[in-house]
Amino acid sequence: MPVLGDGLSRYLEQGFCSFHTPGHKGKQEFFCGLEFPAADLTELPGLDMLHAPAGIIAEAQAKAARIFGAEESFFLVNGATAGNQALFMAISDNKPVLISRSAHRSVFSGLILSGHKVKYLRPVIHPDFNLPLGLEVNEIGGALANTAACHLTYPTYYGSCCDLGAVLEVRNRENYAIPMLVDQAHGAHYLGALFPPSALTLGADAVVHSTHKTLSALTQGAMLHVQGSLLARQRLRQALELLQSSSPSYLLLASLERGAESALAQRRWEELRAEVEAIHLSLSGSLRLLSVKDEQKFGIAHVDWSKILVNTRPLGVVAPVCVEFLRQRFGIEPELWDNENILFLLGIGSTAADVRLLRRGLESLLKLEFEHEARLKAGAKFTEHTRLLPLLPPVPPQRLTPRQAFLAPKRLVPLSESLGHIAGETISPYPPGIPVVVMGEEVTGEVLEILRAKGEERWQGWERAGEERIWVVEDE
Ligand SMILES: Cc1ncc(COP(=O)(O)O)c(C=O)c1O
Repeated sequence: MPVLGDGLSRYLEQGFCSFHTPGHKGKQEFFCGLEFPAADLTELPGLDMLHAPAGIIAEAQAKAARIFGAEESFFLVNGATAGNQALFMAISDNKPVLISRSAHRSVFSGLILSGHKVKYLRPVIHPDFNLPLGLEVNEIGGALANTAACHLTYPTYYGSCCDLGAVLEVRNRENYAIPMLVDQAHGAHYLGALFPPSALTLGADAVVHSTHKTLSALTQGAMLHVQGSLLARQRLRQALELLQSSSPSYLLLASLERGAESALAQRRWEELRAEVEAIHLSLSGSLRLLSVKDEQKFGIAHVDWSKILVNTRPLGVVAPVCVEFLRQRFGIEPELWDNENILFLLGIGSTAADVRLLRRGLESLLKLEFEHEARLKAGAKFTEHTRLLPLLPPVPPQRLTPRQAFLAPKRLVPLSESLGHIAGETISPYPPGIPVVVMGEEVTGEVLEILRAKGEERWQGWERAGEERIWVVEDE
């Protein structure tokens, strides 16, 4: 029995209602006429070529560009990850690049590929959620000078958007010829008045969409949209060719064209919005939900209602216990959770009935329809472990660029011997994934303190977390 196929079947048998990616939510209607496995093809006569499109791929990309308002759009078969990476490789200026410390890890890998030095923006941590939801425009505006590019995430995973329009105004007023690169992975569906303005409408130079997250593309289907002349198009094309497969899946490409078309179905979202409003009406007195009321505070300009972020602290129950309850009693599968927050994602394939199920599940949480014992245990856990680690330690001194550190010889040392060494790996508690230390930075006392206070943290990028050992760069 093939273990992966078997595992997938067993997962599907549980029949969960999806509040996670992909955005098509398993609905056949988005794939009618796409024959699997017969249409699982790659570049063949008449089928065009992804890296030199002149036929049907060029046409489909041009259609996507018209829909989203770009000058040119590129289909990506390795997710928004490849888009972010290509953006950094396309920057020819070797001045430092400005990014948020809470950027996705594909941005950090882009820096390894490009070799740039980095200047960091400190995200604003929202005190009610203990999450990096905002960015201060003044800080960004002040940091733009003498950089090669600025890369911002808009929206965050959690649906909060910084004031990108104001940042672009500063850039234009000061006449900085700095490309504004935007990771709109979680906002591919921003068209029209139901959602925050899209980064392209605001005037960003390059925008990455993860079309599979909220629209109907197959997983890994993403797009990169560009406009203006601040980013070298030819170099960008070369970077995409370097990073992407020479055998792109045509099922995936065809699903991208449909994904772009699905963005036009705004009426589907209207129905969902009414149901999400009902959730807010019913629950916001008892649970903390991120909402429009959070706009204009803590560096947040807009909130995308289609991502439902629930903080369970007011209930006195840790999020993992609530998640277990929602999974077992209601078959609800969220996108992600930490100790106090749960994130539910809607997509173009979500239905009003799905959102009503979520409302019933959350209302049942309030009625405490689960074991008293578990609640007591969970309540106790809240005080012991939550917010044990500071989310935003000071950025350690950068001794090497991420690329220099990546290429340098490394050795494993016990944490207790790592003070003052140069980190050879990028380590982040996940979620939310803000690095405690990026490779090339010094392991400071503050870094060590956080790594030692591990608790139940789930680490990203720390290979030997269990052994309390860390990769450092060999002594120079
Ligand atoms: C903010 C952000 N950017 C980029 C990505 C990468 O997207 P993909 O999964 O399409 O490669 C993610 C993935 O979760 C993300 O959260």
